[in-house]
Amino acid sequence: MSDLPRQMTKIWPYPPSGAPTTGPLGQSGLQELESRVVEAGGESAGLTAGPFPPASMRGCAGRRSGCASASTTTNGNTPRPLTVLDLGSGVGRFTPLLAQTFGGPVYGVEPAQRMRAVAQESARHPSVSYLAGGAEAIPLPDRSCDLVLMFLVLHHVVDRAAAAAEICRVLRPGGRVLVCGMFGDRLPDLLWHRFFPRARLVEQQVFPALGEVTDLFGLPVLGVERVRVPVTPNLAAYADRLRLRAVSTFEHLTEEEIQEGFAALDRAVEAEPTPRPVAMDNDLLVLGPVD
Ligand SMILES: C[S@@+](CC[C@H](N)C(=O)[O-])C[C@H]1O[C@@H](n2cnc3c(N)ncnc32)[C@H](O)[C@@H]1O
Repeated sequence: MSDLPRQMTKIWPYPPSGAPTTGPLGQSGLQELESRVVEAGGESAGLTAGPFPPASMRGCAGRRSGCASASTTTNGNTPRPLTVLDLGSGVGRFTPLLAQTFGGPVYGVEPAQRMRAVAQESARHPSVSYLAGGAEAIPLPDRSCDLVLMFLVLHHVVDRAAAAAEICRVLRPGGRVLVCGMFGDRLPDLLWHRFFPRARLVEQQVFPALGEVTDLFGLPVLGVERVRVPVTPNLAAYADRLRLRAVSTFEHLTEEEIQEGFAALDRAVEAEPTPRPVAMDNDLLVLGPVD
């Protein structure tokens, strides 16, 4: 892998002011994610997403055979749309972007009915289908997906061994698994730990260690990268977001710890001289290929 800090800034730039953004990562972020996958070996396995839709595909999106045969890439592989599973797709934060980037079909599989309803309403795309289900029982056929993304999902999964077996079942030969989130043994320095210090200890327990995850899948590790995801434009917005208590770690803190943390955070908001964007570091683990 090449130089990590350079990649980080390349992968997860803040959209320059006024630049269009289609989600927390921005379209450019996903394109970079795609190139990470390709650099990590996808191209040699024929997982070349190419620009979408390639000229040869126009008018026949979604049909794999016959659509991809007209153009080739620099390495001689035929570009084709990739079938992507966004496992634990939530409200579809990334799902349409995955379709834009990889072509699709893209399946957002999500157990929470309310999340799916929001996704179906607000994150539509012609190549995206949202399906009820979970990692332990994926409602897709064997060997049907080129890429499985789990973004901030694995630590929610109760039976991770069953999930890993299911993911391997639905992957095509040469497929890739992207696990994005935190690993308990390599937690980044997170802003919110400064205000809620015990949260770090909790998260060291809650998030599986990197080795646990790689053992679970038993697939070759193609890369582990620290990636920076924009969260809010300033600290005040960050405090508002945390107040929603959507972060499951809060369930492990006492009410007193939570109140003290928010008081400290409010003081920091008051003291912030110039509003600065808040970002969160995560790890991106790329696994594959599947035989
Ligand atoms: C922090 S959210 C992340 C959602 C989305 N991936 C994103 O980054 O915006 C975690 C998601 O995992 C889902 N989830 C929980 N248990 C799951 C399971 N066993 N299989 C698949 N998804 C699960 C939750 O319902 C929730 O939508």
